[in-house]
Amino acid sequence: MPPPRKIIIDTDPGQDDAVAILLALASPELDVLGITAVAGNVPLARTEENVRKICELAGRRDMAVYAGADRPLTRDLVTAEYLHGVTGLDGPDLPAPTMPLQAMHGADFIVETLRNAAPGSVTLCTLGPLTNIALALQQAPEIAAAIAEIVSMGGGFFEGGNVTPAAEFNIYVDPEAAVIVFGSGVPVTLIPLDVTHQCLTTQARLDAFYALGTTAGTAVGELLSFFERYDEAKYGTDGGPLHDPCVIAWLLTPEIFGGKLINVEVETASRLTQGMTVADWWGVTDRVPNVRYLRDVDADAFFQLLVEHIRLL
Ligand code: RIB
Ligand code: CA
Repeated sequence: MPPPRKIIIDTDPGQDDAVAILLALASPELDVLGITAVAGNVPLARTEENVRKICELAGRRDMAVYAGADRPLTRDLVTAEYLHGVTGLDGPDLPAPTMPLQAMHGADFIVETLRNAAPGSVTLCTLGPLTNIALALQQAPEIAAAIAEIVSMGGGFFEGGNVTPAAEFNIYVDPEAAVIVFGSGVPVTLIPLDVTHQCLTTQARLDAFYALGTTAGTAVGELLSFFERYDEAKYGTDGGPLHDPCVIAWLLTPEIFGGKLINVEVETASRLTQGMTVADWWGVTDRVPNVRYLRDVDADAFFQLLVEHIRLL
């Protein structure tokens, strides 16, 4: 087996973030260098605590967890308690964490880690607004050379938006940060709603987690059972879209996804469409391709990968 892939996870847990983190921690193919929390689904005080709750659930009290930005670069914070509950991890009753939070700011951890890393050796996995990544790139542009790829859950085009008709939540919360990241010249793989809306947490799929009969399996079932209720009512589907674990699944089994390198720009000015990812899928502009935009996924293979890895915890 090749050496494990070095990754940093930047996240705003969030039940789907939690499952993504569990998947990463269950994967010997990945070496998680640290996890940085960002304000998003719920305020930073909650997201950093939730990261530590999830690490303890996975038996990883040794993980380095950092608190990053408590608000977007220039805008007021928009949160999503309506979807995630007031704690951001409603569903299971996870105990308050006792593992430490690192003192360093999350963006500083990203900068320091990348400054000391070999060229193209670290992958950034972003599960929330891109504020921490943008701060790090602004603080130390030279760190871009150390980044192999930024794999980011965010955006949408054929599926439209989820927080407005035009914008997906992670990009909507901090569109200025997305402009910086998408314009950084670093290879970006974007996993938008066009993919995640194909990954529905149907009852049969939830049952597979409960059937593991493990603490982690039951917690995943409870996390997703809470998380899906809002979207089931909104979309009228059996199950809701499962977003963030797709980022980790891309690292583990890229062959179950499909997409292509295109230009993606982010709207920051329009009252109606701010935060929209304008994906030039058909190449009708001469704008430079800057993002590998994923559009297809084998959802059954995705959930099979997820269950098989959660079983290991
Ligand atoms: O739009 C879905 C994204 O916004 C997911 O990352 C979810 O956790 C929220 O952060
Ligand atoms: Ca998230």
